[in-house]
Amino acid sequence: MPADYRNHFFENALESHRISVMINVKRSIYMDNAATTFPKPRQVIEAMVRFMEEVGANPGRSRHDQSEEAAAIVDRTRHLLADLFNIPDPRRIVFTLNATESLNTVIFGVLNRGDHVIITQMEHNSVIRPVRHLERAGIVTVSVASCDRMGRCDPQALGSLIRENTALVVVNHASNVCGTIQDIAAIRAAIGDTPLLLDAAQTAGAVPIDVQALGVDYLAFTGHKGLYGPQGTGGLYVREGFPIRPLKRGGTGTLSHLDEQPGDFPDLLESGTRNNVGIAGLGAGVEFVLRTGVENIRRHEMELLTAFVRGLVNVPGLTLYGPLKPELQVPILSVTFDQALPDGLRPTIGGCGGRAIPATFESVHPEEAAKLLRDEYEISVRVGLHCAPLAHQALGTFPDGTVRCSLGYFNTLEEVGIAIQALKRVAQKMDFVE
Ligand SMILES: Cc1ncc(COP(=O)(O)O)c(C=O)c1O
Repeated sequence: MPADYRNHFFENALESHRISVMINVKRSIYMDNAATTFPKPRQVIEAMVRFMEEVGANPGRSRHDQSEEAAAIVDRTRHLLADLFNIPDPRRIVFTLNATESLNTVIFGVLNRGDHVIITQMEHNSVIRPVRHLERAGIVTVSVASCDRMGRCDPQALGSLIRENTALVVVNHASNVCGTIQDIAAIRAAIGDTPLLLDAAQTAGAVPIDVQALGVDYLAFTGHKGLYGPQGTGGLYVREGFPIRPLKRGGTGTLSHLDEQPGDFPDLLESGTRNNVGIAGLGAGVEFVLRTGVENIRRHEMELLTAFVRGLVNVPGLTLYGPLKPELQVPILSVTFDQALPDGLRPTIGGCGGRAIPATFESVHPEEAAKLLRDEYEISVRVGLHCAPLAHQALGTFPDGTVRCSLGYFNTLEEVGIAIQALKRVAQKMDFVE
């Protein structure tokens, strides 16, 4: 479609979207999939309803049919996850409540007094806070591998931080701020055999992950984002031969005569009644991802991101963050409304990483922009630091943060076209300053 016609088409689409939302015939446009994906596939809802209505029992605790069926559902979810991540033994996957719990389980369960840990500047607070807590308590020392203005971490620079007492390297697979995917194979090569914890909160289900090929020792993932499961689900893979202490101890339904925690997986790290209804939903979500194909999900999301970046890259006063190359990122686009770069210095498809050029426009604060998007255009985005303050220091967007539009498999090109027009209109609200 020629550019002029496309603009006209989506301006009309924006208007009809607003009218249909006003008269209540259309849902708002959801672009907050990095926080949690929405909607969920129908199968996920059905699996949870079925568990509640027909199964309901606690798996592994009793020997009746319902308990055994519940155990089979949990077991099946474990196997589906093992397929997805090419994990050789499904029992090495434990269920948690979310990625935060998985990350904490490794950080508190692996590190010992005197250890050194390396994290990257793109980490989420669910990594930063636990390691800083251990550092403040005088237990570990922490190094932070810096990232550039596009959110990329240099594997060699990270590797040069390794010390004799480095016990763990924690790497965010893809940034929840600007989508940047790190080169895990290169990082693995640079850190030798130092244990590697990969935070796959933003990549599980959205980007192919093969723990064996990548040399990942601990994989922390969440169930409610790219795996399309419900909130309150997540998991952790621990490679065979990598010792770990449990975060909590208690009933496992096994070896009940012992007063110590069973040492076998998954019981070592799975005490108490799990979110079994959630795990039933997660199983259906992973099955949806496997059936759709991670490659197909990735292709669709890259197509959406390509259209989004193309539509916004030359808008005066709008700064886009990240590589702006869909093959190097997940479909997250962070923007600020604060710069009118002189011609020739405009952000390009190669990415701009937020240059600090004096603004010639009064900016629209991210909070105000997000409010306009919500109130006037019914587009749901997230605003602020997105729990990753160090990442904003790398991008140059600290402390105000960004407006983050994050896409998922259920977003459409039409929605992207509407969002482009809406973001342009917000950018036009800026006042020119002489
Ligand atoms: C990179 C990253 N790590 C960890 C988390 C925490 O995930 P959860 O909320 O499932 O604990 C998130 C959530 O946004 C994230 O984006």
